[in-house]
Amino acid sequence: MASAESEALAAQVPVVVTTVADVRREIQNAATTAGTRPVVALVPTMGALHQGHLALVERAAEIADLVVVSIFVNPLQFNDPADLERYPRDLESDLALLTGRGADLAFAPEVDELYPTGDVSTRVTAGRVGSLFEGRSRPGHFDGVLTVVAKLINSVGPDVVLFGQKDAQQVFLVQRMLTDLNMPTTVEVVETVRDDDELALSSRNRFLDPRERRAAATLPHVLEAAGSASDRGIDAVLAAAQAAAMGEQLVELDYLAVVHPDTFQPVDDDYTGKARVIIAAKVGSTRLIDNAAIYLGH
Ligand code: PAF
Repeated sequence: MASAESEALAAQVPVVVTTVADVRREIQNAATTAGTRPVVALVPTMGALHQGHLALVERAAEIADLVVVSIFVNPLQFNDPADLERYPRDLESDLALLTGRGADLAFAPEVDELYPTGDVSTRVTAGRVGSLFEGRSRPGHFDGVLTVVAKLINSVGPDVVLFGQKDAQQVFLVQRMLTDLNMPTTVEVVETVRDDDELALSSRNRFLDPRERRAAATLPHVLEAAGSASDRGIDAVLAAAQAAAMGEQLVELDYLAVVHPDTFQPVDDDYTGKARVIIAAKVGSTRLIDNAAIYLGH
């Protein structure tokens, strides 16, 4: 039989707040009730939650006293209005999924709450790495991401903020922002959650039709092929990955690269050591990304 504690957790529905003032008040109230400031974790999301997000929430509940999940589709990070328009939004089902996972607060502001003047004239810029890879295909994307992450951190004041490894470039840039701007928050990175066929979970997977869904599973195979050539150097890694990617006609490769973990720049030909293979591809009209850690040797 379940203990009273696990029954209480299973029934834990997050309190929904929609304003910055309310999220701060709720955290202050929790501190007053506990008689001490709780360790606060923030899980920033754009909703359309799946098991990958829930893994972040569960990890947050392990390391913090109070877990805030933000649900906000951030217009600033979409360079394509059609992409923003079709981004899935379903707060009710997100809240149902969060129930019993350890989330205390769901911070779900309207666009007006975070951007009351309709635009922000002060933005965080992601610098050179922000214009590579994802940033080259989606100009301004990372400035939008960093600006909203900074706003969410300033609104919530978390001790720790959690991100999924799937968005490797985003993780790298958020870490740089926290360091560069002396923001007193640490980042906790959670491993990518994958489906049975190894496809990384993503809110965008729902747009794939069955044929595209099968084709999309090529992405993790490309990463695997790259990994299995890693003791033969960078050229062999890229050749093995390209060969694995070529087999599937529905997959239109955007980029495939091996980057240094400290700089997120492509590694030199003679580099040996830890690296990350990153990939982005369009499958039908859906853009997917993935990555894997490898160790380059000779
Ligand atoms: O990864 C995402 O879902 C978004 O980029 C984030 C971090 C929630 C910012 O809007």
